[in-house]
Amino acid sequence: MKILIVGSGGREHAIAASAAKSDRVRQIYCAPGNAGIGQIAECVPIGAMEFEKLVAFAKEKEIDMVIVGMDDPLVGGLVDEMEAAGIRTFGPRKNAAVLEGSKAFSKDLMKKYGIPTAAYENFDNAQDAVAYLEKAQFPIVLKADGLALGKGVLICRNLEEAKDGVRSIMLDKQFGSAGNKLVVEQFMTGREVSVLSFVDGKTIRTMTSAQDHKRAMDGDKGLNTGGMGTFSPSPFYTKEVDEFCQKNIYQPTVDAMAAEGREFKGIIFFGLMLTEDGPKVLEYNARFGDPEAQVVLPRMKNDMIEVMEACIDGRLGELDLQFEDNAAVCVVLASDGYPVKYEKGYLIRGLENFDGKDGYYCFHAGTKQTEAGIVTNGGRVLGITAKGSSLKEARANAYQAAEWVDFDNKYMRHDIGKAIDEAYKGK
Ligand code: GLY
Repeated sequence: MKILIVGSGGREHAIAASAAKSDRVRQIYCAPGNAGIGQIAECVPIGAMEFEKLVAFAKEKEIDMVIVGMDDPLVGGLVDEMEAAGIRTFGPRKNAAVLEGSKAFSKDLMKKYGIPTAAYENFDNAQDAVAYLEKAQFPIVLKADGLALGKGVLICRNLEEAKDGVRSIMLDKQFGSAGNKLVVEQFMTGREVSVLSFVDGKTIRTMTSAQDHKRAMDGDKGLNTGGMGTFSPSPFYTKEVDEFCQKNIYQPTVDAMAAEGREFKGIIFFGLMLTEDGPKVLEYNARFGDPEAQVVLPRMKNDMIEVMEACIDGRLGELDLQFEDNAAVCVVLASDGYPVKYEKGYLIRGLENFDGKDGYYCFHAGTKQTEAGIVTNGGRVLGITAKGSSLKEARANAYQAAEWVDFDNKYMRHDIGKAIDEAYKGK
């Protein structure tokens, strides 16, 4: 098979690495890709939102399956365009990708179908939002309705902060048109868990659990980022939690989308909060998480391409997903200053240290090939993943491997997976 992957981050590198393991795959293209992906795929200089060019390329190369990794092209309808041109594509169509593309839609869906989530109100003007907030209890959460690179969520401790938030999201348009609508949501406390799943329109198969660290700094301080590191599985995602979620969250979500005439095929990423009142949905995404994919996919035993084909063909019920009985930790190496202001173009040294090291992965996110070598080209630069027989071992391995590479302004959190110690205290 010839595969085209659309995207350019660590997630797409992890997808490409899994695709490369498949016996069915003969050639992998990635648009636009990055320097690391370029070592296992042919990168093509077409942007993820250049739909016409992507379709033309897929037709010209007779691509057998397109995998759309990123949220923007999914929400923008790339899958529909590919399908209209007769190209098999893995990912939700536009009318289903709205599950991620509009937080107001997803909250209304959960309310309508009784899927556990925090109480909320949707607003399409700032005045009404402020009037509501004047009577609200704090802390409270403001969410820009649309896609905002994971940054459109504000936790406000008091009315002043909330008013500032409404202004910046709805009036100053800090996140562009994503702020045309606003969701005001009850603040939930608990442990966050990410569960990714394959869906074929009617059947859902969940993958092993993971936990992301979204804040930029140790101790969960600093600004929200796309994600600074992950571990898998989450020791907090117990069998009981899984049983509850399978019954009350996962299948009901797939059924709700089908009932709305928005059949979902692709990946549903459930962002969960394990609250005192039970698991609740924090958010849905319509794609693999990043960096969740960097710890989940390396542990998957199935041929990913086979599973994706089963999703497209509505045959997922015939398959069981299997994961290795081990653990993985990913530490993101970022450019100092991320997610606000950072420099690019620094040479990355030591990438060869990963050659031939089983159980260790250096997934590229923001990198670029130049004549001088591979250089930094983004806020999140590399995702260093290591496996281990336990979470503790995987964590130690990942932090050791994070020292094998170096570049100017290299920045990382030092407490990825620290919660693991807490979970195993005294054991
Ligand atoms: N790691 C969070 C996300 O992919 O949205």
